[in-house]
Amino acid sequence: MIIRRARKEDYPYFVLIEKQHPLLPQWSENIFIKENDNPHSVTLSAEENGKPVAFLNFIILRPEAEINLIAVDKAFLRQKIATKLLAKLREYAKKNLCSSIILEVRADNAPAISFYKKEGFHIEGSRPKFYNDNGDALLMRAAANKEIQSEK
Ligand SMILES: CC(C)(COP(=O)(O)OP(=O)(O)OC[C@H]1O[C@@H](n2cnc3c(N)ncnc32)[C@H](O)[C@@H]1OP(=O)(O)O)[C@@H](O)C(=O)NCCC(=O)NCCS
Repeated sequence: MIIRRARKEDYPYFVLIEKQHPLLPQWSENIFIKENDNPHSVTLSAEENGKPVAFLNFIILRPEAEINLIAVDKAFLRQKIATKLLAKLREYAKKNLCSSIILEVRADNAPAISFYKKEGFHIEGSRPKFYNDNGDALLMRAAANKEIQSEK
């Protein structure tokens, strides 16, 4: 498993991975290209046997890093790939002097909420009926430095 910056040739794989998770926003290749042009935005690819199997996009806006999108190929779930992607995000956050990581997640996305809680995130707010289908959003935050978070 290699975690690295995403390249243009990864984007078709990311689109296919996201399609496996219909409640995600379904970014097109063009959106990934636009993100690549945004100096605050970072997309990471998790590669297995030369093929992307997961990705994470986030924005660095000191003092916060914000997760936009994370998705793992269904055939590779529960193999700690998202954990590794988040560990790499924490490296970027640390280098860029970000003290916390924030995100927004569907309130009915139990696997993701469970994953984020394991990573030290707590719920700090909600946005009722935030999504097009009237689904609620939860706002979550974690300390960028996991060690500091777990000592508290
Ligand atoms: C959420 C997601 C990114 C997790 O990816 P993953 O690589 O399978 O997660 P990991 O293997 O690193 O899981 C780490 C821990 O998170 C928790 N977790 C992950 N998936 C879980 C699930 N389906 N149910 C309960 N807990 C879960 C567990 O504590 C897990 O540790 P364990 O396997 O030792 O019990 C993945 O399920 C996914 O791509 N979901 C669809 C896209 C999505 O919802 N993205 C979030 C949008 S905000």
